[in-house]
Amino acid sequence: MKILVLGSKGQLGTALSKLFLKENIKFKGVDLPEFNIIDNNVLTSTLEKIKPDIIINACAFTDVYRAETEFDLAMKINGISLKSLVYLCNKKDIFLCHISTDYVFDGYKIKPYLEEDKTNPINCYGLTKDVGEKIIQNYCQHFALVRTAALYGDSKNMTENIVDKIITSARRNKSIIMVEDECTSPTYTNDLAYQIYLIIKNDLQGIIHSTSEDECNWVEFGKYIFQLLKLNVEIENVKSRNFSKSIKKPFYSVLENARLKSLKINIMPHWKQAVKKYLVDKEYI
Ligand SMILES: NC(=O)c1ccc[n+]([C@@H]2O[C@H](COP(=O)([O-])OP(=O)(O)OC[C@H]3O[C@@H](n4cnc5c(N)ncnc54)[C@H](OP(=O)(O)O)[C@@H]3O)[C@@H](O)[C@H]2O)c1
Repeated sequence: MKILVLGSKGQLGTALSKLFLKENIKFKGVDLPEFNIIDNNVLTSTLEKIKPDIIINACAFTDVYRAETEFDLAMKINGISLKSLVYLCNKKDIFLCHISTDYVFDGYKIKPYLEEDKTNPINCYGLTKDVGEKIIQNYCQHFALVRTAALYGDSKNMTENIVDKIITSARRNKSIIMVEDECTSPTYTNDLAYQIYLIIKNDLQGIIHSTSEDECNWVEFGKYIFQLLKLNVEIENVKSRNFSKSIKKPFYSVLENARLKSLKINIMPHWKQAVKKYLVDKEYI
């Protein structure tokens, strides 16, 4: 079995690459600039050269704010390019494991979203990812569509993730602004990578939710990090509408790992355990 990871320098792509190396699994990772998913010739020649049995699509236009102003590009990467990817996967009998997001939901449900709940994105990023989902669900013959949320982890792109950003800001300032009315389940990419490995190993198909267990808002998340790091910093609570002025975000985008639980392969830890592990791995504590 040979796996091809698209977006291998991103947060999830980096975690998957590390895991496959450790587990001695045959894989190849590709990313910008040499691989661009919206370039059909590059996509076709990459698949012809690598001849994968499985593709994990972890590449995406992930900047939620930029997706509002660069909608066309975001739609090409997250949505339209999947038509060609799905066509090639069907033609070559490749299993496609595609990664999607909690932002396909509007956030008005007061209970965790289940895999079969109806999507209704409320911002441009969510809309582009929803289009991608629909293409896969309607046309792909052999797929797993894994929805996750609020990812953090190392990346080869060396960009600061949300946890690093919170810590950097807290170390520089006496007080830090955090949003109190967006509820989610922050997820460590190392946990998700291992869960994806199990999904593939068990040939699980269809839509699958996979996030850390339980839920929190960003104030609770920040407080817990500061408690672990023994950082004495004041948190200034703000409402989402005042923080993310230009963009609407779901207030409640918690996903239930229902299918993983029913199949007894849910290995996702509590969000507190996950972030503690990340801080240990990164030698913050
Ligand atoms: N991050 C989150 O909080 C979050 C939450 C829920 C779901 N997800 C989903 O989880 C998946 C992985 O997210 P992530 O956090 O690992 O994202 P990430 O760190 O932004 O990684 C995405 C990778 O894809 C690359 N990429 C962008 N455009 C590309 C293109 N046209 N062709 C090929 N590669 C391209 C990016 O390169 P550049 O960096 O150079 O652009 C980057 O290396 C995505 O599908 C995302 O939608 C993420």
